[in-house]
Amino acid sequence: MRQDLGLKLLDSSPKKPFDVERIRADFPVLSQNMNGKPLAYLDNAASAQVPKVVIERIHEYLTKEHANIHRGVYYLSQKATTAYESAREKIKRFINAREAEECIFVRGCTEAINLVAYSFGRRFIENGDEIVLSQMEHHANIIPWQTIAEEKGARLRIIPINERGELVLEEFENLLNERTKIVAITHVSNSLGTVNPIKQIISIAHKFGIPVCVDGAQAIPHFRVDVQEIDADFYAFSGHKMFGPTGIGVLYGKRKWLEEMPPYQTGGGMIRRVTFEKTTFAPIPEKFEAGTPAIMGAIGLGAAVDYLNSIDFEAASEYEKELLEYATEQISNIEGVRIIGTAKEKASVLSFVIENIHPHDIGTILDQQGIAIRAGHHCAQPVMDFFKIPATARASFAFYNTKQEVDRLIEAIKKTVEIFS
Ligand code: ALA
Repeated sequence: MRQDLGLKLLDSSPKKPFDVERIRADFPVLSQNMNGKPLAYLDNAASAQVPKVVIERIHEYLTKEHANIHRGVYYLSQKATTAYESAREKIKRFINAREAEECIFVRGCTEAINLVAYSFGRRFIENGDEIVLSQMEHHANIIPWQTIAEEKGARLRIIPINERGELVLEEFENLLNERTKIVAITHVSNSLGTVNPIKQIISIAHKFGIPVCVDGAQAIPHFRVDVQEIDADFYAFSGHKMFGPTGIGVLYGKRKWLEEMPPYQTGGGMIRRVTFEKTTFAPIPEKFEAGTPAIMGAIGLGAAVDYLNSIDFEAASEYEKELLEYATEQISNIEGVRIIGTAKEKASVLSFVIENIHPHDIGTILDQQGIAIRAGHHCAQPVMDFFKIPATARASFAFYNTKQEVDRLIEAIKKTVEIFS
């Protein structure tokens, strides 16, 4: 079929297999034992591990370059400022933003969404307006909108999901009208793994002139995201889920929105002029980065981006897909196990429940085998409500995980079923 399409030449060079052992050597944490067994780290949706190059870059910064930024006339401060701003450039290129100024450093994805909800909300949301979310959102993409809606007298409208954990897109368009001020939606669900057709969603919203804020926390570590190509108005993500440090994240926003929005926090470093009568603000991105920012975190995140550029990220993405397919196939053969989230398009996440066994018990028994997974509602209680369950056990993969680790996971699940039967 592909040959018929004239793609034979493109396919003819043999692809190098993804060298997972070489990749694993980059992550010191992975070579440890836990509870006397080799660690199988399968909680990457909660936080990914950090490669040596990022650890070394942070060490180098702290030992040779640390000073406050944007303030010092002395060389060390200028060096730190350059490192911080070059991290912003790296982010800009990584997500293909038009300008580095459209990339705001924040504490994490949660803070990025809070920034949009409160700042955009203060400026644009009024009594009687509507905000469209989906049933599969993480609490971080629900509560900030709920709070601003309560303050303003606006209301939330929810895109439903189906039994596979996919959005019911036919319902989406019906929810949009002249009162809709923003659509806030996840790119990839943290509890189900569903990859949403984000470009299509954005294009539907834009037909109504409605901006879209995307929670990209679970997408950005798994495949290339091009914010211009999908035409996102806002795109939020965390550093620690993309192999960088905690305490740093990014809000991408189109200049036209960011310039119209008021500051989210105020203080040093974000002003043009302060008097007791009136304050005027600095241009973006400084307007949204009050106080001393997470300099070390931003530089570490820049190093994580360098790392992702240094490996074959596309091949890593393909490899991860195969791993998820393999795990899905294997777990489907275990009696009593039900996968929660069976969307056609999925990334990284395998959420499941086992008849008569609480997910926390599954997590605890797996831990004894050195296998780290997450058990709970995954900060997505509306998803649990939809499936009428209190919690799931969730294995989530990164490109450094192996088939052997999946096999160990499967064996440990079988053992858990045995123990409880
Ligand atoms: N949001 C993170 C998760 O899904 C913490 O585990």
